[in-house]
Amino acid sequence: MSRISDLTRKTRRAEPASVLATAAKSVLVTAGVVAIANLGRKVVAQAPTAMASDWCEGLTLEHEATLAAVDKLIATSEEHPHRRTAQLTAIKHMIAKHALQEENVIYPMIARDSSEAAGELNKEHGEVKAMLFELTRMDKTDPGFATTLTELRVALEEHMREEEDVLFPALRERLSQEENLKLTRAMNMAGVMVA
Ligand SMILES: [Fe+2]
Repeated sequence: MSRISDLTRKTRRAEPASVLATAAKSVLVTAGVVAIANLGRKVVAQAPTAMASDWCEGLTLEHEATLAAVDKLIATSEEHPHRRTAQLTAIKHMIAKHALQEENVIYPMIARDSSEAAGELNKEHGEVKAMLFELTRMDKTDPGFATTLTELRVALEEHMREEEDVLFPALRERLSQEENLKLTRAMNMAGVMVA
């Protein structure tokens, strides 16, 4: 047998293993990229409350981070629809984590004082979720995207002002130092579970 045909035979025999190795490598690389992307998302979503030792300050930091992210999205142009989609996804993660912490831990405490106030906050969260759904569904080159986004920002800021200036300080004031500490731990735990 000539050297060339012997080489061809060897290469052919080696092919299936090499194809498998390439496929396995590609799966590992994809898994690695997804893991890094998830880690990045977790770090971004966890950062504000992970650093705060007080539930009220933690939520205020998340409000600021969310508004900054929305402003960044408002500044994008319709010529970059993929960028808009990626930024909107990150905002949805931030808001989902934040909303869960408030709805599962903070609002039930507010409801002990005023079920009406807690009901209004939950209703506003529903409106925000509906706007996020609308933005997700919309064509990112649609001029209406920026309009709905601005409406979302106005709704978010109004909701945050009520929480930061009135309802949260009132709740913190009503609770003892130990109760506030417990609430901070419970809120952080709720955030870790989702983000
Ligand atoms: Fe909030």
